[in-house]
Amino acid sequence: MMKNFSIAKTFGINAPEHMTVDGNEQTSNRVPMKIPYVFQKDLTRDVLCWHQHARSSDGLFLFGLPGTGKSSVVSQIANRLNIPVYQKTVYRGMEFADLLGFYIKKGDSMEYLPGVLELAMGYDGNPGWLLLDDIDRADPGILSGLHDVFVSGIVEIPEHGSTLLKAKDGFRFVATGNSNMQGDNTGMNPSVNRQDLALLDRFYKREVDFPNPSVEFDILKTVSPTVEDLLPKIIEVANHIRNAHRNTTDAVMISPLTMSLRDTQRWAQAIPWYAGAEKPLLDSLNFAMLNTCEEPTKVAVRKHLSDVFGEQYV
Ligand SMILES: Nc1ncnc2c1ncn2[C@@H]1O[C@H](COP(=O)(O)OP(=O)(O)OP(=O)(O)O)[C@@H](O)[C@H]1O
Ligand SMILES: [Mg+2]
Repeated sequence: MMKNFSIAKTFGINAPEHMTVDGNEQTSNRVPMKIPYVFQKDLTRDVLCWHQHARSSDGLFLFGLPGTGKSSVVSQIANRLNIPVYQKTVYRGMEFADLLGFYIKKGDSMEYLPGVLELAMGYDGNPGWLLLDDIDRADPGILSGLHDVFVSGIVEIPEHGSTLLKAKDGFRFVATGNSNMQGDNTGMNPSVNRQDLALLDRFYKREVDFPNPSVEFDILKTVSPTVEDLLPKIIEVANHIRNAHRNTTDAVMISPLTMSLRDTQRWAQAIPWYAGAEKPLLDSLNFAMLNTCEEPTKVAVRKHLSDVFGEQYV
Protein backbone atom coordinates (compact mmCIF):
# COMPACT_ATOMS: atom_id res chain seq x y z
CA MET A 1 0.00 0.00 0.00
CA MET A 2 1.22 3.47 -0.85
CA LYS A 3 1.34 6.28 1.64
CA ASN A 4 1.94 10.04 1.40
CA PHE A 5 4.73 11.34 3.60
CA SER A 6 4.93 14.99 4.66
CA ILE A 7 8.36 16.29 3.59
CA ALA A 8 8.69 18.71 6.49
CA LYS A 9 7.74 16.14 9.13
CA THR A 10 9.52 13.11 7.69
CA PHE A 11 12.85 14.80 6.96
CA GLY A 12 12.78 17.67 9.46
CA ILE A 13 13.56 20.18 6.73
CA ASN A 14 11.95 23.48 5.94
CA ALA A 15 9.29 22.71 3.27
CA PRO A 16 5.69 23.85 2.75
CA GLU A 17 3.32 21.84 4.95
CA HIS A 18 1.23 20.57 2.04
CA MET A 19 4.20 19.06 0.18
CA THR A 20 4.24 15.28 0.31
CA VAL A 21 6.04 12.42 -1.42
CA ASP A 22 5.02 8.84 -2.10
CA GLY A 23 6.34 5.95 -0.11
CA ASN A 24 5.22 2.58 1.16
CA GLU A 25 3.02 2.13 4.20
CA GLN A 26 5.02 -0.86 5.37
CA THR A 27 8.70 -1.60 5.59
CA SER A 28 10.30 -4.77 4.20
CA ASN A 29 13.60 -6.53 4.63
CA ARG A 30 15.05 -4.82 1.53
CA VAL A 31 14.53 -1.33 3.01
CA PRO A 32 17.95 0.02 4.13
CA MET A 33 18.70 0.25 7.85
CA LYS A 34 18.15 3.52 9.64
CA ILE A 35 21.24 5.39 10.87
CA PRO A 36 21.37 8.73 12.69
CA TYR A 37 21.28 11.06 9.73
CA VAL A 38 21.20 14.83 9.18
CA PHE A 39 19.00 15.69 6.19
CA GLN A 40 20.30 18.70 4.24
CA LYS A 41 17.56 20.68 2.58
CA ASP A 42 18.98 21.11 -0.94
CA LEU A 43 20.25 17.58 -1.38
CA THR A 44 17.08 16.06 0.08
CA ARG A 45 14.95 18.27 -2.21
CA ASP A 46 16.75 17.03 -5.31
CA VAL A 47 16.49 13.35 -4.42
CA LEU A 48 12.80 13.71 -3.53
CA CYS A 49 12.06 15.65 -6.71
CA TRP A 50 13.60 12.84 -8.79
CA HIS A 51 11.76 10.17 -6.80
CA GLN A 52 8.43 11.89 -7.17
CA HIS A 53 8.62 12.85 -10.84
CA ALA A 54 10.97 10.45 -12.59
CA ARG A 55 9.41 7.69 -14.52
CA SER A 56 11.40 4.49 -14.71
CA SER A 57 13.11 6.11 -17.69
CA ASP A 58 14.76 8.96 -15.77
CA GLY A 59 17.59 8.02 -13.45
CA LEU A 60 19.36 10.07 -10.80
CA PHE A 61 23.12 10.47 -10.98
CA LEU A 62 24.90 11.65 -7.81
CA PHE A 63 28.57 12.41 -8.27
CA GLY A 64 31.34 13.83 -6.11
CA LEU A 65 34.50 13.08 -4.18
CA PRO A 66 34.67 9.93 -2.03
CA GLY A 67 32.81 10.12 1.25
CA THR A 68 30.69 13.20 0.60
CA GLY A 69 27.43 11.39 1.42
CA LYS A 70 26.10 10.09 -1.92
CA SER A 71 25.13 6.54 -0.96
CA SER A 72 23.84 7.48 2.47
CA VAL A 73 21.40 10.14 1.25
CA VAL A 74 19.86 7.48 -1.00
CA SER A 75 19.65 4.83 1.70
CA GLN A 76 18.35 7.17 4.41
CA ILE A 77 15.64 8.74 2.26
CA ALA A 78 14.61 5.24 1.16
CA ASN A 79 14.53 4.18 4.81
CA ARG A 80 12.18 6.97 5.84
CA LEU A 81 9.87 6.22 2.87
CA ASN A 82 10.03 2.39 3.30
CA ILE A 83 11.42 1.94 -0.21
CA PRO A 84 13.45 -1.19 -0.99
CA VAL A 85 16.93 -0.53 -2.38
CA TYR A 86 18.76 -3.09 -4.51
CA GLN A 87 22.40 -2.10 -4.52
CA LYS A 88 25.39 -3.25 -6.51
CA THR A 89 28.87 -1.76 -6.92
CA VAL A 90 30.01 -1.65 -10.53
CA TYR A 91 33.49 -2.86 -11.42
CA ARG A 92 35.45 -2.86 -14.65
CA GLY A 93 34.61 -5.96 -16.61
CA MET A 94 31.17 -6.36 -15.04
CA GLU A 95 28.53 -7.45 -17.53
CA PHE A 96 24.88 -6.56 -17.93
CA ALA A 97 24.05 -10.20 -17.11
CA ASP A 98 25.50 -9.60 -13.62
CA LEU A 99 22.44 -7.45 -12.90
CA LEU A 100 20.19 -10.38 -13.77
CA GLY A 101 19.57 -13.64 -11.95
CA PHE A 102 20.74 -17.20 -12.35
CA TYR A 103 19.68 -20.72 -11.45
CA ILE A 104 20.93 -22.58 -8.40
CA LYS A 105 20.44 -26.22 -7.59
CA LYS A 106 17.98 -26.80 -4.77
CA GLY A 107 17.49 -30.45 -3.87
CA ASP A 108 16.59 -32.24 -7.10
CA SER A 109 15.43 -29.15 -8.91
CA MET A 110 16.77 -25.80 -10.00
CA GLU A 111 15.60 -22.53 -8.51
CA TYR A 112 15.88 -19.11 -10.16
CA LEU A 113 17.52 -16.42 -8.02
CA PRO A 114 16.57 -13.01 -9.44
CA GLY A 115 19.24 -10.30 -9.80
CA VAL A 116 19.15 -6.72 -8.54
CA LEU A 117 17.67 -5.28 -11.73
CA GLU A 118 14.79 -7.75 -11.79
CA LEU A 119 14.09 -7.26 -8.09
CA ALA A 120 14.09 -3.47 -8.45
CA MET A 121 11.71 -3.75 -11.40
CA GLY A 122 9.31 -5.72 -9.22
CA TYR A 123 10.05 -9.37 -10.08
CA ASP A 124 8.80 -10.55 -6.69
CA GLY A 125 6.24 -7.79 -6.15
CA ASN A 126 8.50 -5.46 -4.14
CA PRO A 127 9.73 -2.86 -6.66
CA GLY A 128 12.11 -0.13 -5.55
CA TRP A 129 15.33 1.69 -6.34
CA LEU A 130 18.19 0.07 -8.22
CA LEU A 131 21.35 1.68 -6.79
CA LEU A 132 24.51 1.22 -8.83
CA ASP A 133 27.58 2.62 -7.06
CA ASP A 134 30.66 3.60 -9.09
CA ILE A 135 28.71 3.56 -12.35
CA ASP A 136 31.44 5.59 -14.03
CA ARG A 137 33.58 2.44 -14.04
CA ALA A 138 31.05 0.58 -16.17
CA ASP A 139 31.95 -0.87 -19.55
CA PRO A 140 29.67 0.17 -22.44
CA GLY A 141 27.82 -3.18 -22.47
CA ILE A 142 26.15 -2.60 -19.12
CA LEU A 143 25.16 0.91 -19.96
CA SER A 144 23.65 0.11 -23.31
CA GLY A 145 21.70 -2.72 -21.63
CA LEU A 146 20.41 -0.28 -19.03
CA HIS A 147 19.64 2.28 -21.71
CA ASP A 148 17.37 -0.25 -23.42
CA VAL A 149 15.57 -0.93 -20.12
CA PHE A 150 14.98 2.80 -19.61
CA VAL A 151 13.64 3.28 -23.09
CA SER A 152 11.30 0.28 -23.11
CA GLY A 153 10.60 -0.29 -19.40
CA ILE A 154 11.17 -3.97 -20.17
CA VAL A 155 14.02 -6.37 -19.63
CA GLU A 156 14.50 -9.69 -21.35
CA ILE A 157 15.77 -12.45 -19.10
CA PRO A 158 17.56 -14.98 -21.31
CA GLU A 159 18.36 -17.32 -18.38
CA HIS A 160 14.67 -17.54 -17.62
CA GLY A 161 13.43 -18.83 -20.97
CA SER A 162 13.77 -15.31 -22.44
CA THR A 163 10.90 -14.07 -20.28
CA LEU A 164 10.07 -10.39 -20.63
CA LEU A 165 9.77 -8.49 -17.36
CA LYS A 166 7.93 -5.18 -17.35
CA ALA A 167 8.92 -2.57 -14.72
CA LYS A 168 6.26 -2.14 -12.05
CA ASP A 169 5.28 1.20 -10.55
CA GLY A 170 7.92 2.31 -8.09
CA PHE A 171 10.97 1.16 -10.07
CA ARG A 172 13.64 3.85 -10.11
CA PHE A 173 17.28 3.91 -11.05
CA VAL A 174 19.94 5.82 -9.11
CA ALA A 175 23.68 5.77 -9.73
CA THR A 176 26.68 7.25 -7.96
CA GLY A 177 30.20 7.98 -9.12
CA ASN A 178 33.31 9.95 -8.24
CA SER A 179 33.51 11.58 -11.68
CA ASN A 180 31.03 13.49 -13.81
CA MET A 181 31.04 10.68 -16.42
CA GLN A 182 33.38 12.62 -18.70
CA GLY A 183 36.30 10.28 -18.06
CA ASP A 184 39.36 10.88 -15.90
CA ASN A 185 41.16 14.13 -16.64
CA THR A 186 43.09 14.34 -13.36
CA GLY A 187 44.92 11.03 -13.34
CA MET A 188 43.30 10.38 -9.94
CA ASN A 189 40.55 8.02 -11.14
CA PRO A 190 42.18 5.75 -13.71
CA SER A 191 39.36 3.20 -13.53
CA VAL A 192 36.77 5.73 -14.68
CA ASN A 193 35.45 5.47 -18.25
CA ARG A 194 34.06 8.26 -20.39
CA GLN A 195 30.36 7.48 -20.77
CA ASP A 196 27.96 7.75 -23.63
CA LEU A 197 26.09 11.06 -23.79
CA ALA A 198 22.83 9.37 -24.81
CA LEU A 199 22.80 7.57 -21.49
CA LEU A 200 23.72 10.70 -19.53
CA ASP A 201 20.69 12.37 -21.11
CA ARG A 202 18.52 9.93 -19.13
CA PHE A 203 19.60 11.29 -15.74
CA TYR A 204 18.80 14.03 -13.30
CA LYS A 205 22.30 15.11 -12.22
CA ARG A 206 23.51 16.37 -8.87
CA GLU A 207 26.99 16.97 -7.54
CA VAL A 208 27.33 16.10 -3.87
CA ASP A 209 29.94 18.16 -2.06
CA PHE A 210 31.00 17.97 1.57
CA PRO A 211 28.35 19.39 3.90
CA ASN A 212 28.86 22.86 5.28
CA PRO A 213 30.68 23.05 8.65
CA SER A 214 27.56 23.35 10.78
CA VAL A 215 26.04 20.20 9.21
CA GLU A 216 29.33 18.32 9.54
CA PHE A 217 29.41 19.41 13.19
CA ASP A 218 25.99 17.80 13.74
CA ILE A 219 27.09 14.64 11.92
CA LEU A 220 30.27 14.30 14.00
CA LYS A 221 28.52 15.15 17.26
CA THR A 222 26.27 12.13 16.89
CA VAL A 223 29.23 9.75 16.48
CA SER A 224 31.61 11.33 19.00
CA PRO A 225 29.81 13.62 21.47
CA THR A 226 32.66 13.67 24.00
CA VAL A 227 34.95 15.70 21.70
CA GLU A 228 32.31 18.28 20.82
CA ASP A 229 34.55 21.25 21.66
CA LEU A 230 37.25 20.01 19.25
CA LEU A 231 34.88 19.46 16.34
CA PRO A 232 35.02 22.96 14.78
CA LYS A 233 38.80 22.69 14.47
CA ILE A 234 38.66 19.10 13.22
CA ILE A 235 36.32 20.29 10.49
CA GLU A 236 38.61 23.23 9.72
CA VAL A 237 41.57 20.87 9.21
CA ALA A 238 39.40 18.69 6.98
CA ASN A 239 38.39 21.67 4.87
CA HIS A 240 42.02 22.80 4.49
CA ILE A 241 42.85 19.34 3.15
CA ARG A 242 39.78 19.29 0.87
CA ASN A 243 40.54 22.77 -0.50
CA ALA A 244 44.14 21.86 -1.21
CA HIS A 245 42.83 18.91 -3.22
CA ARG A 246 40.23 20.98 -5.08
CA ASN A 247 42.32 24.03 -5.81
CA THR A 248 45.21 22.38 -7.57
CA THR A 249 44.43 22.40 -11.24
CA ASP A 250 47.76 21.00 -12.36
CA ALA A 251 47.29 17.23 -12.73
CA VAL A 252 50.94 16.62 -11.77
CA MET A 253 50.83 18.80 -8.66
CA ILE A 254 47.38 17.80 -7.48
CA SER A 255 47.22 16.96 -3.79
CA PRO A 256 46.28 13.27 -3.80
CA LEU A 257 44.64 13.44 -0.44
CA THR A 258 41.13 14.48 0.40
CA MET A 259 39.30 13.96 3.68
CA SER A 260 36.04 12.05 3.50
CA LEU A 261 33.22 12.13 6.03
CA ARG A 262 34.37 8.63 6.95
CA ASP A 263 37.83 10.06 7.79
CA THR A 264 36.47 12.85 9.98
CA GLN A 265 34.14 10.41 11.74
CA ARG A 266 37.02 7.98 12.39
CA TRP A 267 39.29 10.76 13.63
CA ALA A 268 36.67 12.18 16.00
CA GLN A 269 35.96 8.69 17.34
CA ALA A 270 39.65 7.86 17.79
CA ILE A 271 40.68 11.01 19.69
CA PRO A 272 39.30 9.98 23.13
CA TRP A 273 41.28 6.71 22.86
CA TYR A 274 44.52 8.68 22.60
CA ALA A 275 44.06 10.69 25.81
CA GLY A 276 47.45 10.63 27.54
CA ALA A 277 49.41 9.96 24.34
CA GLU A 278 52.22 12.38 23.59
CA LYS A 279 50.51 13.73 20.44
CA PRO A 280 46.86 12.68 20.80
CA LEU A 281 45.58 14.67 17.79
CA LEU A 282 48.33 13.63 15.42
CA ASP A 283 48.46 9.99 16.54
CA SER A 284 44.70 9.58 16.21
CA LEU A 285 44.75 11.27 12.79
CA ASN A 286 47.54 8.93 11.69
CA PHE A 287 45.43 5.96 12.76
CA ALA A 288 42.25 7.34 11.18
CA MET A 289 43.75 8.10 7.77
CA LEU A 290 47.41 9.08 7.41
CA ASN A 291 49.41 5.95 8.15
CA THR A 292 49.30 4.68 4.58
CA CYS A 293 50.11 8.06 2.97
CA GLU A 294 53.43 9.04 1.40
CA GLU A 295 55.74 11.26 3.49
CA PRO A 296 55.15 14.52 1.52
CA THR A 297 51.40 14.12 2.07
CA LYS A 298 51.94 13.55 5.80
CA VAL A 299 54.10 16.68 5.99
CA ALA A 300 51.41 18.74 4.24
CA VAL A 301 48.71 17.49 6.61
CA ARG A 302 50.85 18.14 9.70
CA LYS A 303 51.15 21.71 8.47
CA HIS A 304 47.34 22.04 8.27
CA LEU A 305 47.09 20.54 11.75
CA SER A 306 49.58 22.98 13.26
CA ASP A 307 47.99 25.95 11.42
CA VAL A 308 44.63 25.15 12.99
CA PHE A 309 45.45 23.68 16.41
CA GLY A 310 48.91 25.16 17.10
CA GLU A 311 52.43 23.80 16.75
CA GLN A 312 52.52 21.99 20.08
CA TYR A 313 50.07 19.37 18.76
CA VAL A 314 52.20 18.18 15.84
N1 LIG B 1 23.99 13.90 6.27
C1 LIG B 1 24.63 12.92 6.95
N2 LIG B 1 24.29 12.64 8.24
C2 LIG B 1 24.94 11.67 8.92
N3 LIG B 1 25.94 10.91 8.41
C3 LIG B 1 26.31 11.14 7.14
C4 LIG B 1 25.68 12.15 6.34
N4 LIG B 1 26.23 12.16 5.11
C5 LIG B 1 27.17 11.19 5.14
N5 LIG B 1 27.22 10.58 6.35
C6 LIG B 1 28.14 9.51 6.73
O1 LIG B 1 29.39 9.76 6.07
C7 LIG B 1 29.98 8.56 5.61
C8 LIG B 1 30.23 8.62 4.13
O2 LIG B 1 29.00 8.73 3.44
P1 LIG B 1 28.66 7.88 2.12
O3 LIG B 1 29.08 6.47 2.24
O4 LIG B 1 27.25 8.18 1.79
O5 LIG B 1 29.61 8.62 1.09
P2 LIG B 1 29.76 8.39 -0.50
O6 LIG B 1 29.73 9.75 -1.10
O7 LIG B 1 28.77 7.41 -0.97
O8 LIG B 1 31.23 7.80 -0.58
P3 LIG B 1 31.91 6.96 -1.79
O9 LIG B 1 32.11 7.92 -2.93
O10 LIG B 1 33.22 6.52 -1.21
O11 LIG B 1 30.99 5.84 -2.11
C9 LIG B 1 29.01 7.43 6.01
O12 LIG B 1 29.46 6.88 7.23
C10 LIG B 1 27.70 8.16 6.21
O13 LIG B 1 26.87 7.49 7.09
MG1 LIG C 1 29.04 5.48 -1.87
